[in-house]
Amino acid sequence: MIPPWASIHFIFDQEKVKNEILNSGALNKMMIATSDATDSGHSVWDPEGKFFSEDQFKKHSSIPYYKTDSATGLKNLVPGQINTFNMLNLTYIDSEKTSLNDAWKGDLKDKSRKPLWILNQHPWRWRNDLDLPFTKEVISQLPFEYLLTVRCIVQVPPSIGVVHKDNSYASNQEFYKNGFGSITLNISSGGANLYFINHLNSQKHKVNEDRYTCWHFDDSHLHCTDEVKTTRIQIRVFGKLNTDYKSLFVDVLD
Ligand SMILES: [Fe+2]
Repeated sequence: MIPPWASIHFIFDQEKVKNEILNSGALNKMMIATSDATDSGHSVWDPEGKFFSEDQFKKHSSIPYYKTDSATGLKNLVPGQINTFNMLNLTYIDSEKTSLNDAWKGDLKDKSRKPLWILNQHPWRWRNDLDLPFTKEVISQLPFEYLLTVRCIVQVPPSIGVVHKDNSYASNQEFYKNGFGSITLNISSGGANLYFINHLNSQKHKVNEDRYTCWHFDDSHLHCTDEVKTTRIQIRVFGKLNTDYKSLFVDVLD
């Protein structure tokens, strides 16, 4: 079994990647990555705000969220008083038109919603509208045989990361069993931290992001961030590993 979180020893020039991303125009191409919400504005994953009820998460009810119009059945984005995650895929595949912009396919309601890196497990290509030579060079040093989705996740203050999960536990464990991994590069913590709840033992964890440059995270565990102080940037790299995943793990949280 692959644990929810583990640090990976991988040193790179975080400042240089950060500046390259900020200067590339990537932030102007991003989409808001939020969730459906209840009437109170809380994420469907934490509808009463009880999983993350501490003071530092109060603003979770003030972020933009999706609401389905009961008359038309269409989803509308309801603006918030504070930002949440923005995302952009840095890689894409021709066979999936939405892969330049979105990271999922299907609907939450009928449980057909799945990440594109689960649905398309052959090599993805770097998008050609961003100039990111140093970032690509850093990612090429990670232990991947080939890359799937490379996601850039950004929070621009004021911002707090919505409570969510990205995939099901069984699907992620199968992904790892088949030799794939999901490695996060911490480019800039923005003074915020990743929080998650291990759904197997209900243990809540805070990852002090300033201590780590790189880690594995099983995103099927409910997770969020507290409020950022400066821009938070992470790159989540999904791909086929060329090494035993567990052999990379240093500090483990489970
Ligand atoms: Fe996530």
